[in-house]
Amino acid sequence: MKILAIETSADETAVAVVEAEKSEHSITFSVLGNALYSQAKAHAEYGGIYPTLAKREHQTNLPKLFDEAYAQANKPQLDLIAVTNGPGLEPALWQGIEFAKILVKKFKIPITGINHLEGHISAAFLEKKSDTEFSIVPPEFPVLSLLISGGHTELVAMKDWFEYELVGRTRDDAVGEAFDKVARLLGMPYPGGPEIAAAAKRAEMRSAEYDFTLPRPMINDDSCDFSFSGLKTAVLYLIRDMKGLSDTDKDDIALEFEEAARDVLIVKTKRALKLHNPKTLVVGGGVSANERIRKSMEELVGNYPGITLKYPGKGLTGDNAIMIGIAAYLRKTTGKTVQTEDIVARGTLSLA
Ligand code: KG4
Ligand code: ZN
Repeated sequence: MKILAIETSADETAVAVVEAEKSEHSITFSVLGNALYSQAKAHAEYGGIYPTLAKREHQTNLPKLFDEAYAQANKPQLDLIAVTNGPGLEPALWQGIEFAKILVKKFKIPITGINHLEGHISAAFLEKKSDTEFSIVPPEFPVLSLLISGGHTELVAMKDWFEYELVGRTRDDAVGEAFDKVARLLGMPYPGGPEIAAAAKRAEMRSAEYDFTLPRPMINDDSCDFSFSGLKTAVLYLIRDMKGLSDTDKDDIALEFEEAARDVLIVKTKRALKLHNPKTLVVGGGVSANERIRKSMEELVGNYPGITLKYPGKGLTGDNAIMIGIAAYLRKTTGKTVQTEDIVARGTLSLA
């Protein structure tokens, strides 16, 4: 099955042509063409995604990226078009959907709408063989997913393919959003996640000692919900009280912030593991690229011999179209409903 996948929910415009083939014992998955354009630089001056700009950038870039990915794949006969229909910024989502509908007319093939978060989960089931060759390794169920991105922070249980139950979610900011906002407070560019991670690493390398602590919001509350806006505000007050920051101060704050965010994610995930007894833990979304969080997740899962930890490989943690292709393929082949008619953008589309 050859799938053309499109992702435009935030500030990455992405088009991929993927091919999945099922044999008796395995599913091979090839990335035939992949074109991705990150608008991050364009949004940097706003310190976050500026929706009107994202919409315009998607509109300009989609035709070029499609041509590039389709040519890379040697213009194959396609079987399906998969497009992200939510959650995300509606004006941005609409660009992908409208472009997908033009291609449906051109190629006269079916279309399916895919939940962006389902894409992030599905990316974790890809195992790398070479740069373009992968296999899809289905997880053991039940699966618990921790989705951490710029727009979402959610714990979701999946007892079988795509049968979701929401376990916990943020009550305010997403964790990636907190990384971005704290980076901005520290004068670092958007997207803030990698900047904070690099600064925290510098502080760690010189065995930083500092005499402040940041809060770990909701860590002792007995839900699996999160809250990150108070942590960001605590950084704001800390900076104000310190009256002028040196570069090492900034790195120290980044380290303390990253540890605070990590601690909350770990404690809540541990609580959810105890409640749901999954066989697989998936950590997905842009923030899952974070080394400190990954290391702590590995340590956590090390205490549960029955649980396998899966996360997306390099290049697949952040938004991309390959993950949308995987999700579409898995939905099709596991006999789950695929949304085909009247695909509309749903900014707040949820999994559960
Ligand atoms: O999944 P994603 O690409 O887009 C959304 O669906 O939101 O996630 C983007 C988020 C941004 O907030 C970015 O700062 C964060 O992922 N991020 C990181 C790292 N790399 C990206 N956060 C922490 N550590 C990182 N290494
Ligand atoms: Zn995402």
